[in-house]
Amino acid sequence: MRQAFKWIAIALGCLIFIIGIAAVVLYSIGRSRLNQTYNVDVAAVPIDNRPETLERGKHLVEAVVACGECHGEGLRGRAFFNEPAIGTVVSTNLTGGKGGVVGTYSNADWIRAIRHGIGPTGKLLLVMPAQHFQNMSTADLGAVIAYLKTVPPVDNVPPATELTPLTYILIALGQFDDIIPAEYIDHNAPLPEAPPAGATEIYGEYLVNMATCRVCHGEELAGGQAGPGEPIGPNLTPSGELGGWTQSDFFQLMRTGQTPSGRQINDFMPWRYYGQMTDMELAAIWLYLQSLEPAQTPINLAGGS
Ligand code: HEC
Ligand code: HEC
Repeated sequence: MRQAFKWIAIALGCLIFIIGIAAVVLYSIGRSRLNQTYNVDVAAVPIDNRPETLERGKHLVEAVVACGECHGEGLRGRAFFNEPAIGTVVSTNLTGGKGGVVGTYSNADWIRAIRHGIGPTGKLLLVMPAQHFQNMSTADLGAVIAYLKTVPPVDNVPPATELTPLTYILIALGQFDDIIPAEYIDHNAPLPEAPPAGATEIYGEYLVNMATCRVCHGEELAGGQAGPGEPIGPNLTPSGELGGWTQSDFFQLMRTGQTPSGRQINDFMPWRYYGQMTDMELAAIWLYLQSLEPAQTPINLAGGS
């Protein structure tokens, strides 16, 4: 009897030891994956200071690409994701104030961060949705950067991003691939042309592609989730609720956060930004959403909100 216990104890001890070693190895694989550096060719983007350029940039930042959704009020930087099991993800202060990056950034640094998801030292930027911002045209990207350089300085030194050991292990196992855009975007993709602005399906597609709708509503807009524990972004194709909506229902949702049945939606949906889009822009997005193939909500999300 004694002998049997001894062997079981030894076997268990070995097992725990092996699991411990595996965890340490995976942890360091995860860490070194995030510490990779990248060297990419950054396209030249003309950046001018004409009032109409700055106005276009301000409108894109505040209403369409909604940088403040993650970078916080006045782009001051903030801990925008916080789950004890996963850690805290912090966005950068994008102003010229104390703790901000603006004064230190060259044009190439801006382009590298926004289009490639890579910081000035070549380190990948976690979560920063460059895969979508890559769809901005030359003129729109130039306008966004021109405007960002003029944002009023805010003094705010955000804390550092802190991930738990479990998260590094999951990163090593490929569980969080989608929040590492630098790894999978095509760094040689040319800057796209913008279609003519107008209340058209194709312009709506352009706007949706550069906004981050797909981060939360899924790549196919058939439903998605920004991250573990975050609210579900519903199916936006005609097979979802929107199938029964009118254009004015859609405008109301985007401007007030109220659904046709009068429900106030979760503020996680950044309607306070999108509500500042013009009628033309919202009409274009509505036309584009209506033109989508009705798609089935992914099984793991259906009914889960
Ligand atoms: C979905 C959330 C999200 C959105 C939307 C977003 N960012 Fe970021 N961004 C981040 C996070 C998180 C970081 C910090 C990444 C890191 O430190 O690894 C970051 C980092 C950056 C950096 C790099 C700063 C540095 O450390 O040197 C720049 C520049 C930047 N973002 C610009 C923008 C601009 C411009 C927009 C709007 C067009 C934008 N971001 C929208 C999440 C976001
Ligand atoms: C940061 C995540 C996030 C982003 C980015 C986002 N949404 Fe949402 N959206 C949500 C969530 C979550 C809901 C559901 C909220 C609720 O029902 O309480 C929602 C709801 C909606 C609804 C209502 C759908 C319904 O069935 O009730 C529409 C329409 C919508 N979003 C359109 C968009 C469009 C268009 C974009 C891009 C321009 C976008 N969203 C970007 C998270 C997001």
